[in-house]
Amino acid sequence: MKIAIGCDHAGIGLKPVLLDYLEKNGYEYEDFGTFTKDSCNYAEYGQKVAEAVAEGRFDRGILICGTGIGMSIVANKVPGIRCAHCHDVFSAKATRKHNDANVIAFGERVIGAGLMLDIVEAFLTTDFEGGRHAARIAKITEVEQKYSRS
Ligand code: RB5
Repeated sequence: MKIAIGCDHAGIGLKPVLLDYLEKNGYEYEDFGTFTKDSCNYAEYGQKVAEAVAEGRFDRGILICGTGIGMSIVANKVPGIRCAHCHDVFSAKATRKHNDANVIAFGERVIGAGLMLDIVEAFLTTDFEGGRHAARIAKITEVEQKYSRS
């Protein structure tokens, strides 16, 4: 599984912990930045990761900003992305099972490293259940296409 990673200056503190977890667990990943603590625009990095996933170059995306909110908003603007803003393990599992979420976003100002890793593990190891949920996702795609200008 190939994972695209993105963060802003407010999420960069958790990133080394995340990358260490991915390496130790044999995941292939690419870090799309940011790479410094200098103030930056989370939307730039959220867009990069979301596009990499939507284009099929990566299987999943993980985004970290201060709250996870800005990152999730921008990621969900990219057609094909279902980004879940998640700060608990139950939701991370549920969004894989029910929403087939392909990107997750959380905030370094909200959660610590331990909970983040539990959330990431749930996100990366839980399968989509399909069935009735597939029809619901098809409806999301229909809405997305209705308002898509491209
Ligand atoms: C940066 O101050 C902060 O606004 C950003 O990391 C994020 O929380 C936005 O939603």
